[in-house]
Amino acid sequence: MKTLTITKPDDWHIHVRNGAVLKTVLPHTAKQFARAIIMPNLKPPVTTVVQALAYRSEILAALPLGSNFNPLMTLYLTAQTELSEIKKAAETEFIQAFKMYPAGATTNSDAGVADISGIYSLLAELEKYDLPLLIHGEVTDPNCDIFDRERLFVDTTLTEISHKFPNLRIVLEHVTTTEAVEFVMQTGSNIAATITPQHLLYNRNALLAGGLRPHYYCLPIIKRESHRQSLIKAATSGNPKFFLGTDSAPHLTHTKENACGCAGCYSAHAAIELYAEAFEQADALDKLEGFASFYGADFYRLPRNADTISLTKTSWRVPPYYGDEVSNITPLKAGEEINWKIL
Ligand code: DOR
Ligand code: ZN
Repeated sequence: MKTLTITKPDDWHIHVRNGAVLKTVLPHTAKQFARAIIMPNLKPPVTTVVQALAYRSEILAALPLGSNFNPLMTLYLTAQTELSEIKKAAETEFIQAFKMYPAGATTNSDAGVADISGIYSLLAELEKYDLPLLIHGEVTDPNCDIFDRERLFVDTTLTEISHKFPNLRIVLEHVTTTEAVEFVMQTGSNIAATITPQHLLYNRNALLAGGLRPHYYCLPIIKRESHRQSLIKAATSGNPKFFLGTDSAPHLTHTKENACGCAGCYSAHAAIELYAEAFEQADALDKLEGFASFYGADFYRLPRNADTISLTKTSWRVPPYYGDEVSNITPLKAGEEINWKIL
């Protein structure tokens, strides 16, 4: 049987929510990953160090017995964020970064930033304290075609930020376009990007294959095939500016299978296996370890993990849902087979 052993990976972008959903999803991530960057878009958002530490405690309490998974916390940047909160975050070992959502761009982003020039003093402070800024990179103009929102953001806001704050460490989260990949490749080592499994495995046809497929709907929305090819090339290139971030974003099934379905794909149940499939299809399994286990840690200046995980080439069927019958989450590839399995 074919086996692949790699250094234990980390997930540099994940939503684990709180309450009952946290309890359902966290064991999946804790089994596969040593650490994960936890997104702060709860309701209400996690905007202060005190809130982030309380959230971290809730996550630790929800871990399976004996797990040493380490949640790396982030704060949600708003126009009201105090300069002193940035200093406090920089001095707190459990906080790794700030997340910036353009207001209205995605799930729970209402408290995000409407006018980027209004937060320059905050970006200067992040640069000063060398705290990474994690960006949801989409413009929010409702007149902008949804498939163009990332490209336009890269061209305008991101270009401007990167010029104004040349030493700010930035992660352009969940890149989905050729233009975003090219931007990241052309900038300095302070700018990197995460890539999700769904953007590597699917193009936009998946959203409309024989009908509306809400479980492939996430933001930024999956794009046409040429963009997927660019993402595959970036992820499998061995360029350390591109690393693993699932953006696993659980929503209860009924809120996705809905007249106005929520954005987010749940992938934590099989994250590393889904990446293994994408890398194998590109004949680049030898590049998986760098992408999944080294480059993110290096960017965040954290030690690489010492443990390993092993995957075998065994197919298994993804269950139709996780959680209970009433309150459940439909995973990516529900009811389908996956060819790799973590031991
Ligand atoms: O599809 C998404 N879901 N994109 C995001 O940016 C947020 C996420 C969520 O929190 O559900
Ligand atoms: Zn996200």
